[in-house]
Amino acid sequence: MQQTLSIIKPDAVKQNRIGAIFSRFESARFTIVATKMLHLTEEQAGGFYAEHKGQPFYENLVRFMTSGPVVVSVLQGENVIKRHRELIGATDPQAAAAGTLRFDFAASKSINAVHGSDSEQSAKREIEYFFTESEIFSRQTKG
Ligand code: CMP
Repeated sequence: MQQTLSIIKPDAVKQNRIGAIFSRFESARFTIVATKMLHLTEEQAGGFYAEHKGQPFYENLVRFMTSGPVVVSVLQGENVIKRHRELIGATDPQAAAAGTLRFDFAASKSINAVHGSDSEQSAKREIEYFFTESEIFSRQTKG
């Protein structure tokens, strides 16, 4: 069964959207197999987004991601990496499809509510960035 990393970003946490977003995950039949709330340090946020270092938006991204607590989770399900990305919607909420999390909850390209891993390779790296094996409670979803 595939796993992916999801982050509910500081804007969505501040707006009390944790439950609404978890509910969308569960409605999509993703299983939340690990979760925790963290206030990222600059070093943690910078390391997480290391592939974007040098991009014009990088410093703002790190500042935003350290501006308040986030909720990091491991989601499990069939094809969950792609399905979670589809549920989140496009980076720019103006371009996101109706009914996606970013259409409903994001303010802009940078203040955009949720992050999801974009490939199997990044899911593995991102899950290991935040969770040890013993913190992940993999299990079968009941039919
Ligand atoms: P996320 O899915 O967390 O992955 C990288 C983040 O960088 C992305 O969401 C946005 O928050 C941010 N980002 C990517 N492209 C841009 C952009 N053009 N302008 C501002 N922020 C961006």
